[in-house]
Amino acid sequence: MSNPTIVTIDGPAGVGKSTMAKRLAEALGIAYLDTGAMFRSTAWRLGEGAWNWDESRLVEELGWIRFTLSGSGAQTRLALNGYEVGDEIRTEEVGMWASNVATLPPVRAFLKEAQIRLGEQYSLVAEGRDMGTVVFPGAKNKFFLDASVEVRAKRRHDQLKEMGKPANLAKLQESIAQRDHQDRNRAVAPLRPAEDAVIVDTSDLSREQVFQALLDGVKG
Ligand code: C5P
Repeated sequence: MSNPTIVTIDGPAGVGKSTMAKRLAEALGIAYLDTGAMFRSTAWRLGEGAWNWDESRLVEELGWIRFTLSGSGAQTRLALNGYEVGDEIRTEEVGMWASNVATLPPVRAFLKEAQIRLGEQYSLVAEGRDMGTVVFPGAKNKFFLDASVEVRAKRRHDQLKEMGKPANLAKLQESIAQRDHQDRNRAVAPLRPAEDAVIVDTSDLSREQVFQALLDGVKG
């Protein structure tokens, strides 16, 4: 493919980016890139405390990691060194590890490079925190989803319950607020909307309404 199309969806934790990216990719017949999963699986692969390593150890360990993408739409698969990372990265604890390693410039540089490579190979709906601002500034369409921390904690809570995982609403809310703070205030690639992003506040919208807003935005 000579000119892949990129649509970006950024926003804070638990706002529904992954669900929407998957659906939009399915509707557009292209792949989706869950960059949160790249940060989570990198943090998972490196292990707890990697954020305290010295830079040379970090760079060496990152050198062993390769991401590949296959399929498209809802069938898109992301693999780390050939292994399709599953639900083990979906806990709030691993989310916090991901947020910790995401503050480190070598990790951001490594994953940015990997994401750009994938965007050269495939048309993508790419979701994360810095897709529209840093990784794909020239994307065709950019969206920024937002919602109150209460609404997002409730959604994450329901999602974890659906997966049969333990979930405590108050703890989730606290952890999401802490992760938001860290993601919005870090020095490198902080969470913020791109100047040319369409901002969608999803607090009072159903999933269908959010999806429709994105679809209309892509068409328009
Ligand atoms: O989206 P998700 O909750 O899976 O992301 C986990 C963490 O990875 C975020 O809290 C954030 O710190 C980091 N992340 C990032 N940049 C991205 C995607 C995720 O910093 N593009």
